[in-house]
Amino acid sequence: MTDTAATNEQIGNELVLPYLNHAVRMFESGYASAADIDNAMRFGCGYPQGPLATIDEIGVQVVRDQLAARFAESGDNLHKPADLLEKLAAEGATFASSAGAASEATPEFQHEIARVGVVGTGTMASGIIQVFAQAGYDVVFIGRGQEKLDGVRAFIDKGLTRLVDKGKIDDAEKQAVLDRVQGSTSREDLADVDIVVEAIAEDLAIKTQLFEDLDRICKDGAILATTTSSMPITKLGEATKRPASVIGMHFFNPATVMKLVEVVTTEATDAAVDQTVLALCAKIGKVAVSCGDRSGFIVNCLLFPYLNDAVKIVDEGRGDITTIDAAIKEQTGFPMGPFALLDVVGNDVSLAIQQELHAEFGEPGFAPATGLEKVVADGALGRKTGKGFHDYS
Ligand code: 3HC
Repeated sequence: MTDTAATNEQIGNELVLPYLNHAVRMFESGYASAADIDNAMRFGCGYPQGPLATIDEIGVQVVRDQLAARFAESGDNLHKPADLLEKLAAEGATFASSAGAASEATPEFQHEIARVGVVGTGTMASGIIQVFAQAGYDVVFIGRGQEKLDGVRAFIDKGLTRLVDKGKIDDAEKQAVLDRVQGSTSREDLADVDIVVEAIAEDLAIKTQLFEDLDRICKDGAILATTTSSMPITKLGEATKRPASVIGMHFFNPATVMKLVEVVTTEATDAAVDQTVLALCAKIGKVAVSCGDRSGFIVNCLLFPYLNDAVKIVDEGRGDITTIDAAIKEQTGFPMGPFALLDVVGNDVSLAIQQELHAEFGEPGFAPATGLEKVVADGALGRKTGKGFHDYS
């Protein structure tokens, strides 16, 4: 093996093994099904396969032994082989053989969805508006000023032009999509939509006030969905008189491309609302996975500790960002290395997610990396500021 290959393998193992272990713990806790955990990472992050299928491919016993060796060195609970990994290894079983059959039931609309509302004008909101309009829905979206509304239109125009250039759609289709999208600066214009998806600032006070408004403005029976990645959806439901109609629809960045939506139900969410949102995801060409209202849901809970671990390697002077990004792509087939992805998501957003995970799970190994805190303090937030871990100027 060449030196580069050996370094790549070492970096790959160091970063990927705890991620695989964490996925096993998530499955054994009953938080999500094996199929949903694997689909979440495939369709939310573009991984060639999900973590449980990866363990089966590498070999349950091999993964268990590698983790046990790391745990002996580090003493970090995150490296201690999960109980289920120990059990399957002892039995010579696999996740495929023990996970049970995936549910075949196709969700059906229980509420009619004809008109969609979106609140927000940022990157996520713009992508979500485009996704609904491309799927044939009339969309009304709400922004704080004409300039913001124009920005969304420009974003969608640019995305659709790319599709025209690639020959995927023609000019008439592009125009038809744009014609289905209507911007407004007044929330009152959401009165007759069947579902609202909000994608505004990740601030509980701001979102709570929005949900109070939506509850007052939207017609009876309208579903109120949030694409929050870090706020408790239960709390947003409690801000309304219709918590049964409140649900999470967590889209991934970039929303036009990533196929995943995590559908997050609270204790109060009505089963018919859940079914409708699952059916809606299929209608807009997305893959839905189901999970409960807990910090990080499936993807962020598995993804961000791995990204954070990559920063720690650099903090400890054991690697540089270019080598690690290249090693991960080479070793795992992930579409982006950890630093390139942190810069896409935004380092401020990433730090906030990691802080939430640290607070929720209390794992010392989840403490945010110093290097992540530093880029945020320096204002190097990623692609959006032209500089993050990498330089885009
Ligand atoms: N509108 C419509 N379609 C578009 C589009 C747009 N604006 N932009 C691209 N597309 C289409 C392209 O036409 C192309 O389609 P084709 O494959 O049929 O030709 C497809 O989308 C892929 O586009 P690109 O060729 O530009 O994409 P790349 O191959 O360069 O991949 C990437 C880019 C999809 C971003 C890939 O690098 C990737 O998967 N990265 C991982 C991203 C990730 O992990 N995201 C999750 C982050 S975590 C998160 O979001 C959670 C939050 O809470 C923080």
